[in-house]
Amino acid sequence: MIRKYVYGIPFETESVATEMEAVKGTPAYGTVCMEDGFRFACALDEEDVVYGLGEANRGMNKRGYCYISDCTDDPDHTEDKRSLYGAHNFIVVSGERKFGLFFDYPSKMTFDIGYTRPDQLTVSCQAADLYLYVIDGANAYDIVKQFRKLIGRSYIPPKFAFGFGQSRWGYRTKEDFRKVAEGYRENQIPLDMIYMDIDYMEAYKDFTLNEEEFSDFPEFVREMKEKHIRLIPIIDAGVKVEPGYEVYEEGVKHGYFCKREDGSDFVAAVWPGWTHFPDVLNPEARKWFGDKYRILTDQGIEGFWNDMNEPAIFYTPKGVQEAKEAVKEFFQDASGEHSVFFQVKDAVMGLSNNDRDYRSFYHQTADGERVRHDRVHNLFGFNMTRAAGEAFERIDPDRRFLMFSRSSCIGMHRYGGIWTGDNRSWWSHILLNLKMLPSLNMCGFLYTGADLGGFGSDTTRDLLLRWMALGVFAPLMRNHSAMGTREQECYQFGDPADFCHVIQVRYRLIPYLYSEYMKAALNDDLYFKPTAFVYPEDAHALQVEDQLMLGDEIMIAPVYTQNAKGRYVYLPEEMKFVKFLPDGSLYEEILPAGHHYVEIALNEVPLFIRRDRCIPLAAAAEYVEALDTEHLTLIGYPGAEYRFYDDDGVHKNYEDPEKVRTLKME
Ligand code: NOJ
Repeated sequence: MIRKYVYGIPFETESVATEMEAVKGTPAYGTVCMEDGFRFACALDEEDVVYGLGEANRGMNKRGYCYISDCTDDPDHTEDKRSLYGAHNFIVVSGERKFGLFFDYPSKMTFDIGYTRPDQLTVSCQAADLYLYVIDGANAYDIVKQFRKLIGRSYIPPKFAFGFGQSRWGYRTKEDFRKVAEGYRENQIPLDMIYMDIDYMEAYKDFTLNEEEFSDFPEFVREMKEKHIRLIPIIDAGVKVEPGYEVYEEGVKHGYFCKREDGSDFVAAVWPGWTHFPDVLNPEARKWFGDKYRILTDQGIEGFWNDMNEPAIFYTPKGVQEAKEAVKEFFQDASGEHSVFFQVKDAVMGLSNNDRDYRSFYHQTADGERVRHDRVHNLFGFNMTRAAGEAFERIDPDRRFLMFSRSSCIGMHRYGGIWTGDNRSWWSHILLNLKMLPSLNMCGFLYTGADLGGFGSDTTRDLLLRWMALGVFAPLMRNHSAMGTREQECYQFGDPADFCHVIQVRYRLIPYLYSEYMKAALNDDLYFKPTAFVYPEDAHALQVEDQLMLGDEIMIAPVYTQNAKGRYVYLPEEMKFVKFLPDGSLYEEILPAGHHYVEIALNEVPLFIRRDRCIPLAAAAEYVEALDTEHLTLIGYPGAEYRFYDDDGVHKNYEDPEKVRTLKME
């Protein structure tokens, strides 16, 4: 049961896809105070667990820290960070009382979950203008499913997007891309996508191509497709200020860019230098920007990733001016006064993603109102990706396009997936990746994954292998790294056999993973769940933070520590422990419920099949289209049945009952 409450005059975020009447009165479970902004407070019982918040730091159980929904471009995902790229304001309190809360609010919002006081939850924001949805249910899982239904069906990618993708910031020439394709194909390592980072563009201008390299781009796209590899270009939020550049000229002419208070176009520096931001909250501008994706789809492109759409700002002319003055003053008159030094330091260090800048530009909304950016900050990435999603509907309404974004807000889950941004080649980030996955699913984001191997810092062979053994199970499986770091394509570490094996396991599992993804998307369900969602009565399961349930059949427990030869795992019930061995065979052992230490070598991929269940396996293939889903092997418990969903992976006629067939393990 869901109740909707309204406070003040909320901004219509369109996060929720279901219309419902608001009720009067105060919500159960907590108190609302509107004296100084908005505050929802409630007591937390000792045993309460708090789930949710999607792309956020720390554990699956969010209790004990303070998180701020404030879409931020921050490449240092250390434990103390409170904001990442997304704003996912949904939480579930699960204990004696069980309830979900969704705060439909587009700006900065603080979730103090037992941080200031261990026994108190406080959710607050500056303006008392929002919708609050309170959801009652039998248990946390039930509450999440109701919420998912409320916010509408999650984005469904084409099937090729379940293949493996290679990316790196710095691929520039055709030769760079060909080298990657060859590196994979020559070593028989499966691959479906190569991502194009900003260097494919002309001077980082959206929807352009570096003409010197890509004058015959459609031909190059075709060349790659002949190898069954799709090129997936990046699109950035900022449009370069450059007279003569069509996108810039059109945006200026029609007033489609975000404006300063005086009506002039807002200017911020990002990769291309000075840029304007398309006003994606204005439906007309959104349509215009979305239609630009056609420039690339017309050349054979079938997928994109949207970046820098918090929107990230390196600096603005005003910020630079102020920093310049502060520095000048300091050098002219350094008095040894610390406070002046720190002022100067702050002025320089604080140039990027500064709140003052977010307060100095405006959007034009659907009803013609002007709204200051900081008041709707968390909607920018959502609406940039929506621009693309709506355009794809116009370009080819029957076809699915690959689309994922860095910044997001609930609502965007209907238009695309997300990748979790600039992580590092740190062991702790494997675990952070694992913990985020079910939380993201709760907030509607099913097509997600992290930069495998780590984006920043130098990776190592063992770290990459272990991370990939988790990535095998994430819908978005991509290796991506930053310019200047050690090269981390799977063939860069000597004999690539181990990588080849791990990725082959992914492809063997794709029929199952795709089937579970589709069932989760079509039924507003979870693809990844905490163990506690499946075994709510099990006190140990409630505490597990390093294992996940995937679909209805399996549990995963990857190794995430350096030099480990295995790990401890908790089985809430008897399960079949399966290891995919490097020679292509399987190790299988039935383990009773309880705690176990299991050995897992660097080149093995483990999973656990639940009692009396089975899953389908295909023969390995080098790309998704080559997978034979007619001839599948079942592994698990003999006699078990599996409901297998499959389709052409291209079109949208999902509902056809013929797409589901029951497979029975002999
Ligand atoms: C930031 C993104 O998070 C990263 O993935 C990308 O490589 C760089 N921008 C450069 O485009």
